Parts: sequence; structure tokens; C-alpha cells
Amino acid sequence: MASDPLDASDMTTSVPPPIAAKPPARKRARKAAMPPVPHSEPGNEEAAPASGDAASAPAYDAAAVEALATRAEELRVRIRAAEVAYYERSDPILSDIEFDELLLDLRAIEERHPELITPESPTQHVSGEPTALFAQVEHVVPMLSLANVHTAEELRAWQERAQRQLPRATFAYVCEPKIDGLSMNLTYERGLLVSAATRGNGVVGDDVTPNVRTIQDVPKRLRAAPDAPIPELVELRGEVYMRVADFEALNERLAAEAEQAGATPRIFANPRNGASGSLHQKDASVTAGRPLSFLAYAAGTLVGAREPESQWELLRRLAAWGFQVSSLAARVESIEAAQAFCDHLEAERFKVPYEIDGAVIKIDARWQQEELGAVARDPRWAIAYKFAPVQRNTRLLDIWVSVGRTGALTPNARLEPVQIGGVTVSNSTLFNERYIISRDIRIGDTVVIERRGDVIPKVVKPLPDLRTGTEVAWQFPGECPSCHTPIVRVEGEAVLFCRNAECPAKHLERIRHFVSRGAMDIQGLGDLIVERLLTTATIRDAADLYDLTEETLLQLDGFQKKSASNLVTAIAASKNLALPRVLFALGIRFVGEKAATTLAEGLRSMQNLLAATEEQITSLPGIGPRIAASVYEWIQQPSNRELVARLAASGLRMSLPDDEPAAESSNLPFAGQSFVLTGSLGALTRGQAEGAILRLGGKIA
Ligand code: IVH
Repeated sequence: MASDPLDASDMTTSVPPPIAAKPPARKRARKAAMPPVPHSEPGNEEAAPASGDAASAPAYDAAAVEALATRAEELRVRIRAAEVAYYERSDPILSDIEFDELLLDLRAIEERHPELITPESPTQHVSGEPTALFAQVEHVVPMLSLANVHTAEELRAWQERAQRQLPRATFAYVCEPKIDGLSMNLTYERGLLVSAATRGNGVVGDDVTPNVRTIQDVPKRLRAAPDAPIPELVELRGEVYMRVADFEALNERLAAEAEQAGATPRIFANPRNGASGSLHQKDASVTAGRPLSFLAYAAGTLVGAREPESQWELLRRLAAWGFQVSSLAARVESIEAAQAFCDHLEAERFKVPYEIDGAVIKIDARWQQEELGAVARDPRWAIAYKFAPVQRNTRLLDIWVSVGRTGALTPNARLEPVQIGGVTVSNSTLFNERYIISRDIRIGDTVVIERRGDVIPKVVKPLPDLRTGTEVAWQFPGECPSCHTPIVRVEGEAVLFCRNAECPAKHLERIRHFVSRGAMDIQGLGDLIVERLLTTATIRDAADLYDLTEETLLQLDGFQKKSASNLVTAIAASKNLALPRVLFALGIRFVGEKAATTLAEGLRSMQNLLAATEEQITSLPGIGPRIAASVYEWIQQPSNRELVARLAASGLRMSLPDDEPAAESSNLPFAGQSFVLTGSLGALTRGQAEGAILRLGGKIA
């Protein structure tokens, strides 16, 4: 049913499909009360009554009110500019949290001074004026927005307010992911899709019917089911969105196409923009070529069928009609369980294949929703629980290029340090030259930085509106920053390489990778030591590590008897690691831990790998042409084959256990014998001698 992500079984409560509710039919007078202010400004004493109650209001200070009026106007201008950027240009200039903060500040002022509220204030309307490009459609039932909370206390306060309004009610809640896409109103007459419109300003939106018809997830005809009869007329609502992987593939495609055509690339900053930009196309065939998805979660008007009694029932009905509904949605019976849902979803948010910026908690029962009603643009029966932001704005101070183990040259951003999710970010990746050019990222720009889960932060885009004219475009250097070899450009390749086999930066990165955790996991071989071993020419490559002795190490600065002996032991211990680790440690481009395991399991030994054809490699499950070509190219290089031979001679495992000569087998000459190697070994290095013993069935003590 749902195409959704996380296994529902590990969510707090796993339940069958869900609900959406028709916004309350009765609209409340808007002036009655302002939306709750979940946090108070520093210096805000107890929230003053919403209407100027002279008895309890602080003494009137004309100058202070004047200053607040100026501040409110400033906030309105900034919010309006951000709304235009977000809704009309699909190109945000503020992160969600920054936007919310401005809106909260404005609401706090207006709540204390209702006389300062203007009819045009963003607190008084739903944002997102319809755009001029499309015909306008009026929604039968207006599309509301949601108030936000950010903490457990604020969520509880929301529940308590609802409880105060309905003191005798027991609430159940439907918890859903808050999908970061574009909300859409789909109108079905007798089961047929007749119109699709964006939310617009909540009352009137853009008619994007032909475009929405190209989205596979949107049923063109509702499927009738015993408990989901087809209504005369129904407005169904949900989110048009782009999966993260689809968004990334689309951007790659757009950048490559533009490069080929010699045009300025027009790529999207995030999946939401991707969805919005792809939908707002005059030519629906362009939309058809874009990877859009749709999840349903609400309804507007409903004529000629029984109203669902709850959000949960609505969700179930939407699924029966043929919509995708979130498989993450859960119905819970306490606000604590709703909070647990939010915590769990936040912890898992990056495992979901599309972007979510929070959870939506909805009071389940429809009669309770109707009783609670709405205030200004927000229903009182639903709330958005926003997650900690993953985006922040900061300044791009400089761009520097790093050399990877394959020689890949990666531009990186040096940033004015900024806190994101409790971590200070001062560097981030810029991927490759195409990434910078297609986004027109310039040194000195204010840029949006994003950090998702454990992944390294990235520069999402610059904010050109904030340019002062002092920003400078960046050019890829003509030579490798480490060995100064001129950089060769390969037509159509986004990544530039240092092709110098002797480039010291490459050697360093290769060995760092070789000894790292998922690879040979050699403890005690930190970056500084690797660098010292290389610069003193003690080693030249990874195979030389296995020839290191305590004596050699003791000649280097910083080594003592104990640390030298520990390192030699750790290096020797790594020889016991299985073939997949050795394969991964070699650092072949595109060969991660998973591909290394597949290669090892499919080919059984290094010998087979070295003899494999490109077709044989591609035929392994999960090995695509890109990996296969890279592996094949790698094994053709004489220097790589020599490295493998030396590692084998040092005694690293070069086949899977079943294919290894049985160590105890009596027909091997050293079977059952253990060897202790001491002193000088004449013609053989210690590693070579150990390798020979192991291959002959012996053990090293
Ligand atoms: S319900 C009256 N449910 O969030 C309730 N909205 O800030 C109306 N959104 O405009 C919305 N996921 O674009 C609802 N599961 C979800 C949602 C969701 C994302 C968006 C939607 C809405 C905005 C409100």
C-alpha cells in the first residue's frame, strides 16, 4: 500500500492506514484571539492579556510602543520577502526555523499590542499568493495552515489548551510525518479527478491539473471499496513531494544536460523546490519527466457520502480509494505517546526516503475537531511539531581543494563557524566543480549549510539577494594543490583528478584509508604517524607497513619501546582480517564495504579477481557497470597488481576461508606447526616469511 519508508513495525505504535479531516465548517471570527505564542521573548514578562485590559496592562510608554511598531513593520517586511521567495520563486532565503522565529516575534508583539495588528500582517493570512502564470481555482473549503511547536513542553501546552476547551473529552491523536513538499487540493466528481490546485493563499490556488495528472501516485479515478463509497464531490489533500534520491538524480541530470548544451544550469536547492519547480511548468510534458510523488492526508469538502468520524478513518478511506498514505502514521491515546512518536521520528528522520521537517499531531475524533475549530489560519485540533533545523546560513570565507586517495580533487568550503544541531561547522564539502558552477557559489557569499544525520555538512546554495558586490567567483586551480602536477580535464567528467601516481597527498589518503576502521583497522596509526612514515620515506605504500619493525619505528620521533611494539603487534594482527576487508582497504574507486563483500563472495579469491573480465565483474549481483569498470581499470594497473602481490607475500588473506588451503590439512608441509620469527631473516622480509608459513599451513605464534 504505502510506498513509505521506515518499517512501521519499529514505530511507537504501528497501526493500519490513517485519516485526514475536513477543516471545521464553521469559521471563527478571526480577531477573537491570536494564535498561542509558544515562547515568550526574552524580557517578556507574563503574557499580557490579548485585549488591552487597562487594569493589568503595564503603564503605557509611547516611545516603547513606537519602537515596537517599527520592529513589527520590519518583521512584516522580512517575512513578506521570505514568503515571496518561498512561495512565488520556490527559492527560500530563510530556513524554516528562521522564518518561524520571525513570525513568532511578530506574533508576540501583536499579542501584547493588538492595536499594532494590520490587516496585511502575515499573521492574518495564509501565505503563498497564487502566481500569475496559472488560472486560479477557488477551494470549496479553504486550506488551512498549522501552528508550530518545537519542544515537549509546547506540545503539552497545546494539548492542555485543547483540554481546557473540551474539559470532559478524552483525546486520541493521529501522528504523521510532516512531509516537506507542496500541498495540493484534488477535486473528484463522482470519483473522477477534475481539478488539482496548489494551496495558494489558502482560498485560491494555481490550477495545475494537467501537471498533476502526470503524477503516478495521484489516482485519476477513485477506486470504490465497500467501506469507501465514491462521493458525489470530494476535495482530497496531500503533499506533492520528491524523494531525496530522485531529487539528487534529477539535479545531476539537469546539470549534465546544461553543461552539454553550454547553458547555465538550472538546478534545485532542495527536494521541495524540485517538487514545486517541476509542478509549476506551463508544459505538462516537462512535469511528466520529473520524479514526483504524492501522499494524501486530509480532505476538504465532502458531498454525497458519510463523513469519516476520525482522521484515522479518513486515512483508511484515502488508502482504499487508491492513494498512498504514510505508513509511518500512528494513532496513539496519550500526548506522551504522541511525544514519543515525535522523538522516534526525529531520531530516524534521515532514514525516511523523503524530507520531513517535523511531525503533525492531529486530534483524531472529528466531532472534537469541529468543537475546537480554528484560530486565524491554524486549526486548534492539529499542530506541527517541528524538528531541530538542519540548515543554517553562514558566510563562505574561502574554497580549498583536497586530494582523495584516488586522486579525486574535491573543493571544500571554509565557513564562518556556525552551530547546527549542537555541532560547530566550519568546513563543508562542495563536491565538485560542476556543483559550484551550477549553483553560482561565490567566495564571500552568504550560503545555506545543511547537515543531515551523521553525514558531512554541505553547502546547499548561496543567497544572491544578500550579495554586496564584493563576492568573487571561484576557479578550479590548474594544478594539484599537493604535487603541483597540471590537472587534466576529461570531457563530461564532473570530478577532476590528479593523475600523478606519485602524488604524496594520494599516498597519504590511501594509507589513511587502508588503516581505517572498516578497512584493516590498525589501531595506533593516526594521521600524524602515517604522515611521518611517508615524509621520512620509512614507507612508500600500504604493503611497506607490514615490514615495519620496532627498531625502525624507534628511530622516528615520538616512538618509545612500548608504542613501537604495540603498533607492530596491531599491524600483524590485521593480517587475520578476511578478504572483503582487504579488498575494501585497497581503496578502489566506488568499492565500498558492500561492494567489497560482493566481490569477495562472488569471486572467492584475489587471484580470481585479478584474472576476471569486466563482464564477469558486472555479472555479480549488485555490481553495476560503474563499479565494474573502476575495478577492471584498477586490476589492469601493474603497480596495483604488484601491491597486491606484496600484501599477499606479507600474509594478508587473499581468499575466503572455504577456498583457503585447509590450514590443518595434513598434506600441507607446515600443517599443525607454529612458528616464532626472531632476528634477521636474510632474503625474506618478516612479512614475506609469515605469508609463506601461512600458505604452507603453518601458524605464526
Ligand atoms: S494537515 C488543517 N498533514 O504542512 C491541517 N499537513 O504547515 C492541514 N504538511 O500546508 C494540513 N505533511 O503542506 C497536514 N501530514 C500532514 C502534512 C502536512 C505536510 C504540510 C502541508 C500544510 C503545511 C502546514
